[in-house]
Amino acid sequence: MRLGILTSGGDCPGLNAVIRGAVLKGTREFGDEFIGFRDGWRGVVERDYVELDWREVGGLSRRGGTILGTSRTNPFADGMDDRTVYDVLSDLGVTGLITVGGEGTLSVAAELDRNRVNVVGVPKTIDNDLSATDYSFGFDTAVEIATEAIDRIQTSGEAHHRCMVVEVMGRNAGWIALHAGIATSAHSILIPEVAESIETICKWVESTRDRGRTPLVVVAEGFALDTMATAHHARGLDTFGRPRLGGIADVLSSMIEDRTGIETRATTLGYIQRGAVPTAFDRVLATRMGMAAVQSAHDGKWGSMIAARGTGLVNVALREAVEELKTVPRERYEEALTLFG
Ligand code: F6P
Repeated sequence: MRLGILTSGGDCPGLNAVIRGAVLKGTREFGDEFIGFRDGWRGVVERDYVELDWREVGGLSRRGGTILGTSRTNPFADGMDDRTVYDVLSDLGVTGLITVGGEGTLSVAAELDRNRVNVVGVPKTIDNDLSATDYSFGFDTAVEIATEAIDRIQTSGEAHHRCMVVEVMGRNAGWIALHAGIATSAHSILIPEVAESIETICKWVESTRDRGRTPLVVVAEGFALDTMATAHHARGLDTFGRPRLGGIADVLSSMIEDRTGIETRATTLGYIQRGAVPTAFDRVLATRMGMAAVQSAHDGKWGSMIAARGTGLVNVALREAVEELKTVPRERYEEALTLFG
């Protein structure tokens, strides 16, 4: 079988491990050939691809980023439709496409599936916000990086007796903030799923200071105060029409400083959370998902996405996989509330 593979959307630690797992499984077990489209859907739109064989993928799982490159190109927004994708794949002799991506990419894959294009999805997102899978690779690495960075920031905060506000990614889900916040003993964790008032946040900050501790606030980029209609975004929309988030830490830190009189500093961790070496957990999950995608192609399970369920992997329909976002349940936030202040 000749299979195409592409990585699309934000880069995410573990993408190379998927490519390695897929190519090794396909070439060794089935004698498959692979082509890799460069920069996600852009490579399909522009017929820009490389032949991939086992020599290209040796030792790849420890490398961050993606050897294929990625982009947020939305093929349907760029004048293409499912028919064009179908034609490109059949001209290149490709039976099916392994698409590795997050919500945006998998929605495109679901749309292609509706229109007879053979696709298998592999979920990738540091945000961990796809409801059909227990975990997506990239999340564990992002939490690990955020935890290490916040520990360092807190050391500086303690030395200066400052309140430190640290913003993490996650889009509309608070998973990275919740996990990194608990891991770093944050005195307040703010997530998109729960609006809080500035008065409550300042109360947590002041009670921490009154106990002789240095207040640490971990905030998800998608968090909104109860007085805000939407999450803070001043950078326009991405190609899928979603607001580009970021900057809430700066907004909160001046409000906290003004109200409490405690010197406050903000740090936005940004792209550091997606970079460098994936954790062992993510490498293993990504490798297994890449291999499972190839197996699914041979089993004719087109239109499905590989999902983690406990320690196993299952196939779920792509359409279901993108239907609902996996946000932090209220009880998980309430469980953490005891730790605040
Ligand atoms: O979805 C992953 C993610 O890193 C989000 O957490 C963040 O909001 C977004 O991507 C940033 O996107 P971009 O790479 O387009 O700036």
